[in-house]
Amino acid sequence: MIREEDRMRDIFIAGNWKMNLSCEAAMQYARDFWPPEEKGLITAVAVPFTMLESLEEGLEGSSLLVFAQNMHYEDSGAFTGEISASMLKELGTDGVILGHSERRQYFGETDEAVLLKAKKAVSSGLIPIVCVGETLEERDAGRHFERVESQVRSLFTGLDPEEAEKVTVAYEPIWAIGTGRTASSDQAQEMCAFIRKTVRDIHPGAADKVLIQYGGSVKASNIADIMSQPDIDGALVGGASLDPEGFADIVRRAAEAKGLRIKGRQGR
Ligand code: 13P
Repeated sequence: MIREEDRMRDIFIAGNWKMNLSCEAAMQYARDFWPPEEKGLITAVAVPFTMLESLEEGLEGSSLLVFAQNMHYEDSGAFTGEISASMLKELGTDGVILGHSERRQYFGETDEAVLLKAKKAVSSGLIPIVCVGETLEERDAGRHFERVESQVRSLFTGLDPEEAEKVTVAYEPIWAIGTGRTASSDQAQEMCAFIRKTVRDIHPGAADKVLIQYGGSVKASNIADIMSQPDIDGALVGGASLDPEGFADIVRRAAEAKGLRIKGRQGR
């Protein structure tokens, strides 16, 4: 456990629903999941586009932020099937996941596009969570640092220092996503520290401000171990965020591992 006075940054726990649930289920989730209101604790759920509006409505008065899972970097134009930052803002969306490995893998998203999207998100007032991470082959071949460094460098060298400090990075080793195989907390810390060092090389002033999350088979039983690491500020939780009670448990354990005692009762 980390003592609260030693914690330098906010704790940021986000759920990624991916292509799951429904508008009705999202409304029910908004009734069942009410995050603790604690200074220094940020919570969010990233949901399918169709659920953004109903969730924003259902969460009125709650501190839970609502994120999208992707967006286009242009404001408008002939981009069939895409959604712009201004369209997300119109619905009251707070942030957006960018460059998730599933988007890189199945939809051809490149580092160049992720940079343009991150810049657009920041200038639009959306909080970007940019995902990076290596494949199993890359890790087995000892090329995981090289892979993640190239993703982090291509992002941060394209950002101004003021933009850089507004970006949250999620380290999600692809081999740990949806597999039940979590990176050990030492492996996660080693890479998150490396990400921060790489950011420091490019933007020395931003490195201690950038929030870094770990993602990949995070659940209630492993969150405290992960969060007890100094360079890990939060988690991006997939499958385990779909159940409001389970997600509430993860949030509470994460906060406590960083020395934040949840005072009030969770829930409405
Ligand atoms: P799981 O937690 O289901 O492994 O998913 C991780 C993830 O991809 C979050 O973005």
